[in-house]
Amino acid sequence: MGYLSSDEINQGTAFNGAALQNGREILFQAFNWESHKHDWWRNLDRKVPDIARSGFTSAWLPPATHSFSPEGYLPQNLYSLDSSYGSEYLLKALLQKMKQHKVRAMVDVVINHRIGTTQGHGGRYNRYDGIPLSWDEHAVTSCSGGLGNRSTGDNFHGVPNIDHTQPFVRKDIIGWLQWLRKYVGFQDFRFDFAKGYAAKFVKEYVEQSKPIFSIGEYWDTCNYTPSYRLDYNQDSHRQRIINWIDNTGGLSAAFDFTTKGILQEAVKGELWRLRDPQGKPPGVMGWWPSRSVTFIDNHDTGSTQAHWPFPSSHIMEGYAYILTHPGIPTVFYDHFYDWGNPTHDQIVKLLDIRRSQDIYSRSSIRILEAQSNLYSAIIGEKLCMKIGDGSWCPSGREWKLATSGHRYAVWHK
Ligand SMILES: *[C@@H]1O[C@H](CO)[C@@H](O)[C@H](O)[C@H]1NC(C)=O
Repeated sequence: MGYLSSDEINQGTAFNGAALQNGREILFQAFNWESHKHDWWRNLDRKVPDIARSGFTSAWLPPATHSFSPEGYLPQNLYSLDSSYGSEYLLKALLQKMKQHKVRAMVDVVINHRIGTTQGHGGRYNRYDGIPLSWDEHAVTSCSGGLGNRSTGDNFHGVPNIDHTQPFVRKDIIGWLQWLRKYVGFQDFRFDFAKGYAAKFVKEYVEQSKPIFSIGEYWDTCNYTPSYRLDYNQDSHRQRIINWIDNTGGLSAAFDFTTKGILQEAVKGELWRLRDPQGKPPGVMGWWPSRSVTFIDNHDTGSTQAHWPFPSSHIMEGYAYILTHPGIPTVFYDHFYDWGNPTHDQIVKLLDIRRSQDIYSRSSIRILEAQSNLYSAIIGEKLCMKIGDGSWCPSGREWKLATSGHRYAVWHK
């Protein structure tokens, strides 16, 4: 299998290796699909102390630049920081406060596509006259109506897709990323719709703009049976995400969509899914844990879009799994702040345990049980956990209960 890639080699050479090597990142997704309606930079400003206290190392903010759509995913003027989330002034105040509290700010980098300002080739809006980075149709892929090359990835339909094969385009994007990093003050990057352009461009962008940490959204469909049941084996799915990471030179982590897809079926009484034939975790986490960013929902899969939601009655089992396991876990805003204090506090407890037991992205894992209604594992030899209806308890007097809730429990030594 080709999955054991150049991880160890890259560890030594990556300038941004610090965060990846350390492996103790805990991420917070600091928005949902409706955030643009709620004076967001100000709202987050008030929450920074709690986010810091809870142990998050980095908070992913929604796209901060001017966009055609209020959510920020149809960018136009990349150098304007006035967005529906708030003014440039409020954004900078937020970033300042995050710096004081030692929570890094992750910018949502939307560079697969860009909305034009004026009509060009074919009568389409594929020119950018009158704003900074005033590209013409040659910056737009031929697949999306421009005069550039074919896309090096999937086409995002209905809008001009940026042609990353053009040297002038890459030079401008690198300049913009450096501006976000050095002048605006973001430290981490999240690459939106990373399926839309080749991973080698992400490698170049990361090398040139040096984020402390970066993640790609390589969202691919899982494997299903003809009757739309999730296949047990998702190896080809996780291999595609791993290939993407590998093609960034290992410089970027990726969201572990494989783990999300399997976990949300597993918690519905199919916990046998959580052990692959080799006895490992079945997602990207099982093969390249230091590059696997685990999560259970985000602004697309959950929130008001609910494209692929985690079953709501199993949220805490989901967190009991990702917050005790290898990989780099992410907590979603809605679960942390909109689901009430008990959920917030149960998540905080799991975060505390992760840190006090020093569980990190490459902690060892031994899966003990993976049956329909019971999953249990020992992580880092000093923590063990179970999820599911089935009862289970570690053997040995050295284990003490650290926390428990509906269908989950965690012990430490
Ligand atoms: C892309 O198009 C340009 C001309 O606009 C050409 O010189 C270049 O070789 C093409 N690059 C690729 C990778 O196809």
